[in-house]
Amino acid sequence: MVSCKLLSIAATLMGAAVAQNTTALRYMPFGDSITEITCWRAKLWEKLQGTEWATTNFVGSGKNENNCRDTKYDRDNEGHSGFLAINIANSKQLVGWLQRNPADVITMHLGTNDIVQQNKPIDQIIAAFSTLVQVMRDSNPKMKIVVAQIIPMGLGNYNGKVQQLNQAITPWAQGKNTTESPIWVVDQYTGYSGSADNRDGIHPNAGGDDKMVNIWYPALLSAFQAAKADKVAALAVEAVEALEGEEGGGL
Ligand SMILES: *[C@@H]1O[C@H](CO)[C@@H](O)[C@H](O)[C@H]1NC(C)=O
Ligand SMILES: *[C@@H]1O[C@H](CO)[C@@H](O)[C@H](O)[C@H]1NC(C)=O
Repeated sequence: MVSCKLLSIAATLMGAAVAQNTTALRYMPFGDSITEITCWRAKLWEKLQGTEWATTNFVGSGKNENNCRDTKYDRDNEGHSGFLAINIANSKQLVGWLQRNPADVITMHLGTNDIVQQNKPIDQIIAAFSTLVQVMRDSNPKMKIVVAQIIPMGLGNYNGKVQQLNQAITPWAQGKNTTESPIWVVDQYTGYSGSADNRDGIHPNAGGDDKMVNIWYPALLSAFQAAKADKVAALAVEAVEALEGEEGGGL
């Protein structure tokens, strides 16, 4: 028999080990050009330095330099300029992206191209989001997901539709939320100016990047905490199993 005392010692030791070892956490920034060719990822990486999440591994197939004047940050991301949520979902592209670069935590900022390029109906964009969340969970049943209500445009007449999409995201995410794989919705629209905070009407300038980081950040920390808690729990289970093995019998 394994004593309760031994179990709790093992759990504490393994918890302490993983607490010093957040390198195991993998984060995928997923989206379109607003994720790919912008500097909020660099600023986010810098903000994480000096925290317990400093060693978080950003993952994804993209590695381009964006003139962010930052040679240190982890550039890996899954931002794809010009891509529609609907097309990514229909052509199952996220399946392979997550196979090549599995993740514990993912952020998604998508829908801009669906609206701006092709004026897709809101319900089709939301259906694509459902497909994408299912792909995330097929890849990792415990995926921690942060979904953005997207930033406004500073050109054209798209913001009415952007706001419709953003309004639809909240009840959709509530309906998809689970304890194992939570979805946090963050509002990247409110307080963001499509003209003043974008460099070209579409992509954030330095001020827009700062706003985006500040909105992602608290939800990302919740996602990191939850992903770490899963890992600590899994390690504690492993430790208990190892102890049981040593004692030469089950409980
Ligand atoms: C620490 O991180 C390394 C590299 O990701 C991993 O191989 C190892 O299992 C981790 N150990 C713990 C206790 O989490
Ligand atoms: C999903 O659940 C988490 C708690 O696990 C909560 O923090 C989050 O706000 C919920 N998301 C939505 C969209 O209600």
